[in-house]
Amino acid sequence: MTRDPAPNPHATEEQVQAAYQDPKLANVLYHDWEADTYDEKWSISYDQRCIDYAVDRFRVATGGTGPYPTALELGCGTGFFLLNLMQGGVIERGSVTDLSPGMVEVAKRNAKSLGLDVDGRVSDAERIPYDDNSFDIVVGHAVLHHIPDVPAAMREVLRVLKPGGRFVFAGDPTRVGDLYARKLGQLTWWLTTNVTKLSPLSAWRRPQEELDESSRAAALEAVVDLHTFDPAKLEGMALGAGAVDVRAVTEEFSAALFGWPVRTFEAAVPREKLGFGWGMFAYRTWQRLAKFDQDVLSKVLPRDLFYNVLVTGSKPADPERL
Ligand SMILES: C[S@@+](CC[C@H](N)C(=O)[O-])C[C@H]1O[C@@H](n2cnc3c(N)ncnc32)[C@H](O)[C@@H]1O
Repeated sequence: MTRDPAPNPHATEEQVQAAYQDPKLANVLYHDWEADTYDEKWSISYDQRCIDYAVDRFRVATGGTGPYPTALELGCGTGFFLLNLMQGGVIERGSVTDLSPGMVEVAKRNAKSLGLDVDGRVSDAERIPYDDNSFDIVVGHAVLHHIPDVPAAMREVLRVLKPGGRFVFAGDPTRVGDLYARKLGQLTWWLTTNVTKLSPLSAWRRPQEELDESSRAAALEAVVDLHTFDPAKLEGMALGAGAVDVRAVTEEFSAALFGWPVRTFEAAVPREKLGFGWGMFAYRTWQRLAKFDQDVLSKVLPRDLFYNVLVTGSKPADPERL
């Protein structure tokens, strides 16, 4: 077996320039660079808050919670989805994979500190380094929109699943949701960074170098974010790869209208200005809105309007059907 490549958290200017033409290289550089601070940046934790979030996403997609004996995660990042599903009792044993060596390293470190039985490989979702028929379930969170050839990844998922095995991908943006989230984010960034130029509010302005750094990150983010999805087309990709029992569900409408400006505002002002009280207010409000979206709006609005799409399906129990 070949050894996994080492993380490269300090890309050279030349590498960054090359990455603008190469989305996979951009993903490696961007996520290697972010790996050590990713959990903090996205408020990822391995306590009940994120366990409930992960298990709920799983339940929303599949209607059940397992347990599944063996699981593979694609684009694991720091392990947020798989490790929290394991802690929530949905999955017993896991393998994490990601294109970014830095992310695989952090995911394995997180698993070890939680005492979870997890191995990991650096791998492209379009070429998964595991044998056919290996896993009871394949999961991913916020990964499909980064993969250049999603149908190829779907075919690989079905190859490594055992007959009858299931896949669950959550946390990818819908086409319509991404449009309004992006616009709201841009407007909030522009307003916050300009209003805080006024001298009475200057204490709320982040230092210029940090704002420049965020803008550079945003520029590379535009290269790593490759797709948004129409739920029906995403279902079509999974069916086209040979999956059965395919279903895409969407969630978060008012929660996204609230959440994206809030998240952008938080990134545009100095961290110490927003204390614990703000954090709790933002989280609780988002939670209430997400519940309202699920209980009420999902029954009256078309699914394409919601921000997040989740897709699930199975490998046919009879492999001849693939
Ligand atoms: C937005 S992050 C999500 C990480 C984690 N799943 C989470 O929800 O916190 C997307 C992850 O997908 C990985 N990724 C991007 N392209 C990939 C590919 N072609 N194959 C595997 N992983 C990929 C990135 O390196 C990154 O860690």
